[in-house]
Amino acid sequence: MTGPTASPPVRPWWHDAVVYQVYVRSFADSDGDGIGDLDGVRSRLDHLAGLGVEAIWLNPCYPSPQRDHGYDVSDYCSIEPAYGDLDTFDRLVADAAARGIKVLMDVVPNHCSSEHPWFRAALEAGPGSPERARFFFRDGVGDEPPNNWRAVFGGSAWTRVDDGQWYLGTFSPYQPDWDHTHPDVADHFEQVLRFWFDRGVEGFRVDAVPPVGKAPELPDQPPGPPGATDEELALSNPFATFRPEGHAVWRRWRRLTDRYVDEHPGREIVLVAEAYTPRRPDLLLEYARPDEFHQAFAFDVLLSPWRASELRQAVGDQLMLLHDEGVVPTWTLSNHDVQRTVTRLGRANATDPASYTGSALRYVDAPVDLELGRRRALAAIAFVLALPGSVYLYQGEELGLPDWLDLPDVARQDPVFLRTAGAFRGRDGCRVPLPWTADPAGAHGFSPTTGAAPWLPQPDDWGRWAADAQAADPDSTLATYRALLAARRRFATGNDARLVDLHPDLVAVRRGRLVAVLNPTPEPVRVGDLLTVGDVVVATERSAARGTIAPDATIWVAAVDATSPNGGGPARVASPR
Ligand code: BGC
Repeated sequence: MTGPTASPPVRPWWHDAVVYQVYVRSFADSDGDGIGDLDGVRSRLDHLAGLGVEAIWLNPCYPSPQRDHGYDVSDYCSIEPAYGDLDTFDRLVADAAARGIKVLMDVVPNHCSSEHPWFRAALEAGPGSPERARFFFRDGVGDEPPNNWRAVFGGSAWTRVDDGQWYLGTFSPYQPDWDHTHPDVADHFEQVLRFWFDRGVEGFRVDAVPPVGKAPELPDQPPGPPGATDEELALSNPFATFRPEGHAVWRRWRRLTDRYVDEHPGREIVLVAEAYTPRRPDLLLEYARPDEFHQAFAFDVLLSPWRASELRQAVGDQLMLLHDEGVVPTWTLSNHDVQRTVTRLGRANATDPASYTGSALRYVDAPVDLELGRRRALAAIAFVLALPGSVYLYQGEELGLPDWLDLPDVARQDPVFLRTAGAFRGRDGCRVPLPWTADPAGAHGFSPTTGAAPWLPQPDDWGRWAADAQAADPDSTLATYRALLAARRRFATGNDARLVDLHPDLVAVRRGRLVAVLNPTPEPVRVGDLLTVGDVVVATERSAARGTIAPDATIWVAAVDATSPNGGGPARVASPR
């Protein structure tokens, strides 16, 4: 008896997707109020389609007082009026779909805004009320808060209200924590997920996963190391992070998602956890698992010093999870919370492990060489684009934007800056509105020419990185990103990827017929006989000497099969200025 020929299993779209993060507020402003919006995103979809991304992830665009720029949600089932409305959102999803681009949203489960109607009701209802039971309201100890927990953005994690009780806000007083053990809260989030799935949202980046779920008795946390910051204490609190109570929430969300997908054939929804688990693949595995998240961001490359040993470990851990556990890596080098890659890798101390504090938000300052940062950032992205798994890009990285470190303090808006009285610079520098045009009018095309000043100012030389000038220049960073994404579709296929031992100073991965090699050193390095086994199909820098890879560069070498439809043709070598 002959059965149908077994075809290879079809992988869900997100396995190898390139996803582009849109920080809506800073992407494009359609109506001239100086604030990015959803029609602005619609107006620039061709830029994203031209780049070759499969999906966009929108940072929170729900109604919000914007104390933490959307991570303080006052209504989970609507759109921030400054960004548009539900009709605008539906149009965005449809226009994106017309270009083959899916839309992911950002859901914030740990906390809402102190303006959320349920929190307002809790304040009014008073101690012991059912309204308060949806949050963590407790009596203090005398005049002291209920325990010693600190807030991520500084200060105590507890805020006292007029009647003397205290409520918990792991990040800030205007972000009260939900108690997910309360059935109202659990039901509410299930409705929220379904609401957006019904509008065509193909998944969620789930914000601040580790603090969801608290030890029921809320005990004091043990003292931290001397000099630990509030943020470090908050994120290492064993009674408030990485809790089993949180896993119960994710299992519920996954059951709901799987049920939804079963009921809606053709849908392939993804839940991606934002959980910083530095060098703890075992901890990441607690989230990325068949009954919780489909994926969890692999932040270790982003947190690594620019050195082969640490980078190899960061990549190797993910490949190990893929092979042993089937966990699909979720690569990311940048986002709205961290220094932009060009700046981070251009710092004089970028190779020094001590320049990283282990937290994504803090860097030890050092002079920045932007040209060096540009080369390294391209090498880094070219390397991860060769790897199996999805790759998340942060808006503006395709333009090679740096952080604006000298953004004047008066313009800064990040609660990290405001709540530490400027002791920490915060994240505004990576959120500066994008330069679309070399022409400075309308904040370099961010707003209409008659528009108001942008919500964060741009530096004077912002036009240097303008998208329109780069689009016309085949050697620009933008052109190189396009070429890299195209090369990825053509050469970087298959799940079988392993680290290869080429040279102690290099990081090398073999993926099917492709070998990708990163040289994070300032010297050219010999790559043995690698170059004889295939063609160099990507090189972020040209090598001056035969048989070597240039300093701070990535190459891809592909054994080209002349008989395959893709083989034998000319390969595009990415070689920016
Ligand atoms: C988000 C931040 C936000 C914080 C609180 C993070 O993980 O990425 O931008 O400030 O959660 O919601």
